[in-house]
Amino acid sequence: MSKNAEALKVIRDRAGDAPVRYGLILGSGLGHLAHQVEGVAIPYTDLPGFPHVSVSGHNPNLHIGQLGGLRVAVFGAREHYYENGNSAAMRPALEVLRSLGAEALILTNAAGSMRPDIPPGDLMLLSDHINYSGLNPLIGEPTDQRFVPMVDAYDPALRAALTQSAASEGIDLKDGVYAWYSGPSFETPAEIRMLKGLGADAVGMSTVPEVILARFLGLKAVAISTITNMAAGMSDEKISHEHTKAMAPLGAAKLEKILLNFFRNHR
Ligand code: HPA
Repeated sequence: MSKNAEALKVIRDRAGDAPVRYGLILGSGLGHLAHQVEGVAIPYTDLPGFPHVSVSGHNPNLHIGQLGGLRVAVFGAREHYYENGNSAAMRPALEVLRSLGAEALILTNAAGSMRPDIPPGDLMLLSDHINYSGLNPLIGEPTDQRFVPMVDAYDPALRAALTQSAASEGIDLKDGVYAWYSGPSFETPAEIRMLKGLGADAVGMSTVPEVILARFLGLKAVAISTITNMAAGMSDEKISHEHTKAMAPLGAAKLEKILLNFFRNHR
């Protein structure tokens, strides 16, 4: 049996085989939402092919069950490129998500802002991305499916629906372009000035490879950043992972309201 088939068997044995509607990946400090899923939590270590997550502030469990009245699969943690140098680390988990019947992947992350009007604590819906890392999770993929179109990679209908959910919850949801920097070191002020000049609004160390993989696998994608800091050189605040973890919950409560509203209205 392939690793994916083994992981699927574990999931179906513990969570039943009803299909899930959405997958949701939680970013740094956003793990709380996973505990609201009414269902089962399966440690990644029980799921062959799932990532080995080493970043503090993440919850390496797959939660399957009801959230906002919908059956979802919530990934409490992701493996980042900077952990083991593998930009395709999430591929098996996303393949399993597709096999579970999901139609779309909702991604969340923590990011630094390059826009004074998008301060820490704000949420930013990704309109597009800049893959500044130059890496790609599909390098080595032998089929022509690797030539994935990336126009409207962030699904316009899902973006409109999340914008609507934010408005009906009275939450200000900004909109912008996310740049992927590999990390794990943070950016220099010169790099941030460059990224800003290139048209990025926020910067982070994740999401982009997963969106490429999702589109490759035929899953729709949509993503929201919680802004935890102004990017390097843009404020006197010191940037650190501790700070990211401490600030993420500020946006997390709003993010939770938006997602629950979205799930309730998209049965
Ligand atoms: N840069 C990169 N990744 C991040 C940042 C940042 O400033 N903040 C949170 N994740």
